[in-house]
Amino acid sequence: MAGTTTFTMIKPEAFAAGHTGNIIAKITEAGFHIKAMKITRLDNEKAGEFYAVHKERPFYGELVSYMSSGPIVAAVLEKDNAVADFRKLIGATDPSEAEEGTIRKAFAKSKAENAVHGSDSDENAQIEASFFFSRFERY
Ligand code: RTP
Ligand code: MG
Repeated sequence: MAGTTTFTMIKPEAFAAGHTGNIIAKITEAGFHIKAMKITRLDNEKAGEFYAVHKERPFYGELVSYMSSGPIVAAVLEKDNAVADFRKLIGATDPSEAEEGTIRKAFAKSKAENAVHGSDSDENAQIEASFFFSRFERY
């Protein structure tokens, strides 16, 4: 059975552009309950650790410096079928391929600076949520 938890970040360029409120509105309108949320900032080391799965990819260095370039919003979200439904809501990695009505279609600047993160599996949702929040910080 699909899990009910996913994890998201509003990425630095979207936070800096003031899109946070509109992105949160889209998330809650789509039926996600916000279990935890905070504004924080990843340093180079933490961003590298978070995206360690992409270490061998050509864009890894660029990704780590981008994700540590400014504040982000981290959040744990709850809904039936959370991981798949949230990835549908955010749209394709490259906003030029994202469907109308998706968060990336509306707010992403490019394939690299694409406004939001969404977990890709139930297992990674738990790992990523625990990276930012203790169990006492989830409601
Ligand atoms: P995310 O993990 O952030 O939700 O994004 P995703 O699953 O849609 O994409 P993924 O393949 O996991 O890539 C992680 C992030 O790396 C950046 N990226 N840049 N320049 C490029 O070709 C490129 N490809 C990926 C994006 O910020 C992407 O979200
Ligand atoms: Mg991913």
